[in-house]
Amino acid sequence: MPEKGDHVVVIGGTSGLGLDIARACTELGAHVTVAGRDITRARAAAADLGDLASHNSCDLTDFGSIERFFAGIDVVDHQILTALDRDFNSINDFRADDSASTMLMKTVGYAVAVHAALGKFSDRASVVLFSGLSMWIPMPGSTTISMANAGVIGLMNSLATQIAPVRVNAITPGVVVGTNAVDDADPVRAETYERLRQRTPGKRLPTPQDIVSATFALTDNPGINAANLVVDAGMHLA
Ligand SMILES: NC(=O)c1ccc[n+]([C@@H]2O[C@H](COP(=O)([O-])OP(=O)(O)OC[C@H]3O[C@@H](n4cnc5c(N)ncnc54)[C@H](OP(=O)(O)O)[C@@H]3O)[C@@H](O)[C@H]2O)c1
Repeated sequence: MPEKGDHVVVIGGTSGLGLDIARACTELGAHVTVAGRDITRARAAAADLGDLASHNSCDLTDFGSIERFFAGIDVVDHQILTALDRDFNSINDFRADDSASTMLMKTVGYAVAVHAALGKFSDRASVVLFSGLSMWIPMPGSTTISMANAGVIGLMNSLATQIAPVRVNAITPGVVVGTNAVDDADPVRAETYERLRQRTPGKRLPTPQDIVSATFALTDNPGINAANLVVDAGMHLA
């Protein structure tokens, strides 16, 4: 787990799983910097996280903004990239511009964020990139996300060979209950999630806490490098 005094940078840390990871870091005494496109949301997230949190804006489709964001940061102990601008798109009525924007942020944008952090990584630093199960198990409308998530794993492999000793790993979540993307309170969605839950061997879907502890397994363990950790409660077996 991140230690007291560590600096963890979470791009996408202003919401959802990124914010949960950031919160767990501050609870351990680590400093976090959370970022997304919306500075107001970033400020609110940091205020919610308390004194150990800083914030700034950073748009992974605007490469200048990524460079400016990292120019204000001295040391990175762990870089966590959870950001996603969801694009629901299917091939029959494909919206190429929307798809290109999401592809850009989740592939090239992630790569630019790592490039911008070079020279700031500490001795035991690691990078965790977020992919998603849709790369193997497409959902309706997941055309772009399926492509982007597969690209993240290619990027992970390439980075691990290039920025060692910094370790580079990925989390591939399944459908995570209790996140913005997976709102159990919506009755229509709840039915879908119940169906997915029944597809897992243990009849449970992963929780945000499961994702947080999986992320810390990757940041902690020096023996884990270039690993894609699937946290889907076994849904990929169905
Ligand atoms: N939730 C799930 O069940 C699930 C399942 C599979 C995979 N995942 C993966 O887990 C990760 C986190 O998912 P989530 O549901 O927690 O996400 P989320 O709640 O939708 O949060 C997305 C974050 O990304 C930021 N963001 C969006 N576009 C950005 C851009 N262009 N540049 C910088 N930041 C940007 C958002 O802030 P702004 O809007 O202010 O930019 C926000 O902080 C994603 O990579 C996703 O693919 C999640």
